[in-house]
Amino acid sequence: MTKTILITGGAGFIGSHLVRLFVNKYPDYKIVNLDKLTYAGNLENLKDIENASNYEFVKADIVDADEIFKVFDKYQPDGIIHLAAESHVDRSIANPNEFIFTNIVGTANLLNAARNIWGDDAKGKRFYHVSTDEVYGSLGDTGFFLEDTSYDPRSPYSASKASSDHLVRAYAHTFKLPIVVSNCSNNYGSYQFPEKLIPLFINNIRNNKALPVYGKGENIRDWLWVEDHARAIDVIFHEGKNLETYNIGGHNEWTNIDLIKLMCKVMDAKLGRKEGESEKLITYVKDRAGHDMRYAIDSTKLQKELKWVPSLQFEEGIEKTIDWYLKNEEWMNNITSGDYEKYYEKQYKER
Ligand code: NAD
Ligand code: TYD
Repeated sequence: MTKTILITGGAGFIGSHLVRLFVNKYPDYKIVNLDKLTYAGNLENLKDIENASNYEFVKADIVDADEIFKVFDKYQPDGIIHLAAESHVDRSIANPNEFIFTNIVGTANLLNAARNIWGDDAKGKRFYHVSTDEVYGSLGDTGFFLEDTSYDPRSPYSASKASSDHLVRAYAHTFKLPIVVSNCSNNYGSYQFPEKLIPLFINNIRNNKALPVYGKGENIRDWLWVEDHARAIDVIFHEGKNLETYNIGGHNEWTNIDLIKLMCKVMDAKLGRKEGESEKLITYVKDRAGHDMRYAIDSTKLQKELKWVPSLQFEEGIEKTIDWYLKNEEWMNNITSGDYEKYYEKQYKER
């Protein structure tokens, strides 16, 4: 093994795609997946590679500094790719503290642990922090988020991610920690927890349940296929410059309502329903507090400097994604039993 790479949050949605990519693509690396297995972490996401000889799973909580120092001491990682986070805006509105602990304190613990094992000579090492475009705030009808757009986070989730981004950069400037940061737009694809818009609505359409559209459904998100995000992280991890930030996105903006209507149409065809049948499930509900209007990423820097381009058109990607969720009913049923039911009832009963 030439290198040990520690990936945090590898049992989650994006993390599991990244772990799979690295385990398969880099047989000479040892990939250590550190995850607390919260409600959003699921080892079923990694069944296909769990026995690979270059893969190891460690159950640990990034908020627990002693535990994290011990893991770093044991594995002596050469690279850290940090994805572990509380990631759902609605949950951050219901319970901000969880986000402050995991996203801010957890990131600080990882930075301290990296400094502890690397000391002052961190040549050849890398701390990669995976962040979101939501730190830039909300756009009007025009414009895009660039790498130097001022931070303006507006939800407890995005504020906690912004804080962690600042800490990562501060450690680079103050302690010469070799860091790189990326900020990506909304991801979609397989293995996403069904509290987020796309898997939630696919599941509800399949089960003939109401589709709770917040406000007027006019908010805009910029969607990127999760495997393209994982490929971008691979490129940035290996070829990105220290201290740089790279925005990741595929220029793919959709209003929520147009996206939902597209999903209804595709699913009508797949489920053998009359066209227009699933759209009847659309139910406008109370808007999300502080709901950001529009996100849109300009990823020119990444495309030009590191030659990354998204591989998939959205219409193809959403169809692939719907097919995956329809085929993996058991995964969905396992994940939506138990605590998920309680969350769902609480989240939507007052809307
Ligand atoms: P996710 O919620 O699906 O997964 C998060 C993972 O982190 C889970 O496996 C969970 O068990 C783990 N985790 C949570 N708290 C932990 C703790 N205290 N200690 C150790 N592990 C813990 O999230 P995701 O959608 O895969 O997002 C991954 C990262 O990418 C996050 O940092 C998020 O901010 C960022 N991001 C997400 C998107 C998106 O659209 N989903 C877009 C841009 C950036
Ligand atoms: P989400 O998937 O939670 O991602 P984010 O808030 O991080 O962008 O939501 C995507 C969009 O869909 C967002 O504008 C909120 C909206 N939305 C609904 O209209 N209804 C829902 O039930 C959910 C979960 C989201």
